[in-house]
Amino acid sequence: MSVRVVTLPGDGIGPEVTVQAVAVLRVAAASADIDVLVEEHLIGGHAIDEAGTPLPAESLAAAKAADAVLLGAVGGPKWDHLSGDQRTGAGLLGLRAALEVFANLRPVRVHPRLVEHTVLRPDVVRGVDLVVVRELTGGAYYGQPRHRDETTAVDTIAYSRAEIERVARVAFTLATERRGRLTSVDKANVLMTSELWRQTVSTMAAEYPTVSLDHALVDSFAMHLVTHPRDLDVVVTENMFGDILSDESAVLAGSLGMLPSASLGASGPGLYEPIHGTAPEIAGQDRANPYGAILSVALLFRHSLQRPQVAAAIEAAVESCIDNGVLTADIGGSASTSAAGAAVVAALPARRAAAGVTS
Ligand code: NAD
Ligand code: IPM
Ligand code: MN
Repeated sequence: MSVRVVTLPGDGIGPEVTVQAVAVLRVAAASADIDVLVEEHLIGGHAIDEAGTPLPAESLAAAKAADAVLLGAVGGPKWDHLSGDQRTGAGLLGLRAALEVFANLRPVRVHPRLVEHTVLRPDVVRGVDLVVVRELTGGAYYGQPRHRDETTAVDTIAYSRAEIERVARVAFTLATERRGRLTSVDKANVLMTSELWRQTVSTMAAEYPTVSLDHALVDSFAMHLVTHPRDLDVVVTENMFGDILSDESAVLAGSLGMLPSASLGASGPGLYEPIHGTAPEIAGQDRANPYGAILSVALLFRHSLQRPQVAAAIEAAVESCIDNGVLTADIGGSASTSAAGAAVVAALPARRAAAGVTS
């Protein structure tokens, strides 16, 4: 089997964590007899500097033609003054829309060793295992009309029943494969889009008799997420709520640097990225946590390459590194980005199985 993976390292700590993720990708692929061709392209601020746009046509064409895309993060102070289509984030939004990756899976687990490190009480976070399914190609991020002048600005939240159904289907299906619980989060006491969201998801529940569905309003859910996170299995929500709630859920895992994500469409390449940003204040210092990016590679093997055992091996390797105290500063240690990445590579069974693999 031969696969093409396009990497879009981006800005800030993006390239630093992506290098480690690619090292893991290569070794894990070799262990599974997969030939992997890795092709790097520009996105975000670096793309603006070098090509005048946050998503150059070559990067987009390469991503569309790939089996999977691995992204670091985009943005930083150098480009903060840019507006509209020139924003670094617009490159990422354009990529997600072009790949039609409407379902963004953001799994959240807490490693036993990090339970004491979180700012929450250990009895609250121990054993947390949930997945946020964030709608990724609709809502406020893409709604029209949208404009701004000196004194007024307009954003629009729009959702169609079809957009809600396709992401809810992913969430219901995931719940059937997990603990059978789905929580749909909305603001149905205020927003018309949330009324449609709630009604659509409720109607679909009949098709999934083994799933117990409940609905929550986003404000109180934000509290529930950090007070009773073990109640939660699969959470489905619209684009902007999912963005905010998934960063909040990183508190459960101990750091934003721990969380991976997979963005999936009906067909075509999946997009894999840690949920964190470019962390400009630690960029270039070899201090960023690469585990979220590396765990995104595990998701790539699971969802784009249909190799769940390879995914599990990468997840086990990261777990063993944490067990052994290979911890970056954000999770209470002093390991460098490169040392943590090298430790994961060393912990992969591939090292022993695949003779001749050098990187
Ligand atoms: P951020 O996620 O970059 O950082 C938030 C906090 O978490 C900071 O304290 C940072 O140091 C820490 N952090 C994040 N990732 C870490 C890691 N891997 N290891 C250790 N610590 C980590 O969010 P921000 O500061 O709000 O945004 C900075 C820039 O990143 C902005 O330009 C923003 O637009 C961009 N951003 C990009 C993405 C993306 O490309 N997917 C996501 C979020 C933010
Ligand atoms: C994320 C990021 C992006 C988002 C930004 C950079 C556009 O915060 O991937 O979570 O809001 O989707
Ligand atoms: Mn975000």
